[in-house]
Amino acid sequence: AAVTSLFAQAQTFPANPITIVVPFAAGGPTDRVARDLAEALRKPLGGVSIIVSNVAGAGSSIGSTKVARAAPDGYTLLLNHIAMSTMPALYRNLPFKVETDFEYVGLINEVPMTLIGRPTLPAKNFKELTTWLTQNKGKINLGNAGLGAASHLCGLMFQSAMQIDMTTVPYGGTAPAMTDLMGGQIDLMCDQTTNTTQQIEGKKVIAYAVTTSHALTTPSLKDLPTLQASGLKGFEVTIWHGLYAPKGTPADVVAKLNTALKAALKDPEFIKKEEALGAVIVTDKRMESAEHKKFVAAEIAKWGPVIKAAGTYAD
Ligand code: MLT
Repeated sequence: AAVTSLFAQAQTFPANPITIVVPFAAGGPTDRVARDLAEALRKPLGGVSIIVSNVAGAGSSIGSTKVARAAPDGYTLLLNHIAMSTMPALYRNLPFKVETDFEYVGLINEVPMTLIGRPTLPAKNFKELTTWLTQNKGKINLGNAGLGAASHLCGLMFQSAMQIDMTTVPYGGTAPAMTDLMGGQIDLMCDQTTNTTQQIEGKKVIAYAVTTSHALTTPSLKDLPTLQASGLKGFEVTIWHGLYAPKGTPADVVAKLNTALKAALKDPEFIKKEEALGAVIVTDKRMESAEHKKFVAAEIAKWGPVIKAAGTYAD
């Protein structure tokens, strides 16, 4: 009976509202992508209502655990990013295995990061910032969204590239961190352009550099130097977002979600919102679930050694 009911359920999917869990605080880059994507998914999913639920904490491992343990019926999904490839190296007791405890629905986008400072920081460009960092060793506060977050990974790489330890201040997401940065409570942060573009345009923070190997095309970001060109050899980090369902979600439900995701990624409205914030939608080939799974495995292999070299662990 159980098998038929799962089969029957898959046939009528989606018959109920779908929840997309965002494992960071509302208002941040992950939340931004999720809310814009939920908008674009509604029509391809037959008008079903899509609820975005923020379950923050521990660099996305709390929200990710919630979805790993959810009923495998396609009605609870996880939208997460590069943290899916950094958590395995950072948490010794993760209650899930990234590579086996999720069904991979598909990749969404790639998002550059920017290094930004509080508006009162007495350094107007990267060169002046390196002088200020050297003069203020031991007194620098770097905001992030917890161990494993994109802002954490970039901050870790920045500290080891500069050989300067900074006090890291973790938040439930980079939205609350941004509030404190603009208020001057913290000095620096490495955050995705989806969250920083407006603040940079509004001169609410000082922008120093971008983390991609190439300059960006967004008008307000195109003059920012890359960290690589600013002397940090090989410094390159781009954040990517993907959609996941709990392991055991029926294959045809995952396929229906992947088809709807592909349609949403072709939605001109969604593309326009993403591009205005410096994000780039993945190419068609990369939208396949199998590609998503392969990519995450490669990213786990890539970032593990980087994190271990930087020597930060958490239980
Ligand atoms: C991150 O640093 O991982 C993200 O910015 C977290 C968030 O979406 O707030």
